[in-house]
Amino acid sequence: MGNWKMHGRISENATLLTEVAAGASALQNGVRVGVCVPCPYLAQSQALLSGSVVRWGIQDVSAHPAGAYTGEVAAEMAADFGVTYAIVGHSERRAYHRESPELVAAKAQRAIEAGLTPIVCVGETLEERESGATEQVIGTQLEAVLLVLTEKQAASIVVAYEPVWAIGTGKTARPGQAQDVHAFLRRKLQEKGAAVANVPLLYGGSVKPENAQELFAQRDIDGGLIGGASLKSKDFLAICQAAQTELH
Ligand code: 13P
Repeated sequence: MGNWKMHGRISENATLLTEVAAGASALQNGVRVGVCVPCPYLAQSQALLSGSVVRWGIQDVSAHPAGAYTGEVAAEMAADFGVTYAIVGHSERRAYHRESPELVAAKAQRAIEAGLTPIVCVGETLEERESGATEQVIGTQLEAVLLVLTEKQAASIVVAYEPVWAIGTGKTARPGQAQDVHAFLRRKLQEKGAAVANVPLLYGGSVKPENAQELFAQRDIDGGLIGGASLKSKDFLAICQAAQTELH
């Protein structure tokens, strides 16, 4: 899954989306590909990706239904543009917009109610990791979401583990380090119900063509949430190809 963050212009997007759609059509082994684009480009993504294997998504949704919330985008509005996925709780939103675990949970719920699949992001800062608080921090982040969802709803989400210290820094979690956290997340999901344990778990944070294969080979890593490398079709497609060979 690509996360373009706040990048893109109409002319550049056209090339990128067309190349990704063309490259993704050759993927096998059930690899699913998506791109989460800035809101103004949802219509363009819908126009260029409809009929391709690539799904498109939004990077955030409002915790409110439609109403007097200037600047917000309701999940139903994204659904109007054929959106499949909605990232919620990205660490950049938790950090720069002070999103609490409860707010992220409300957003996940709204996304589901609008027929979207939330990609719930969790992750610890370097300080939290070094103080041994990783499991407590991401456990709290995930539990808040699981608390407001039914078992059936919870079984329909995607979870992304993105250590904050690995995002955009070029520092990737070692595959074993990421696997340990994914196994922990899997156990937490399992507590909610047997079907919930199977939700796709993505790893994000400086995933590149060079390290994707080793990450995806880990037992509980089901895919990636790709920032910088999703802006270059060649790199993004190379990562998708690594998923094709390594995912189980
Ligand atoms: P980078 O791949 O640029 O480190 O970003 C990861 C990310 O935050 C994806 O949501």
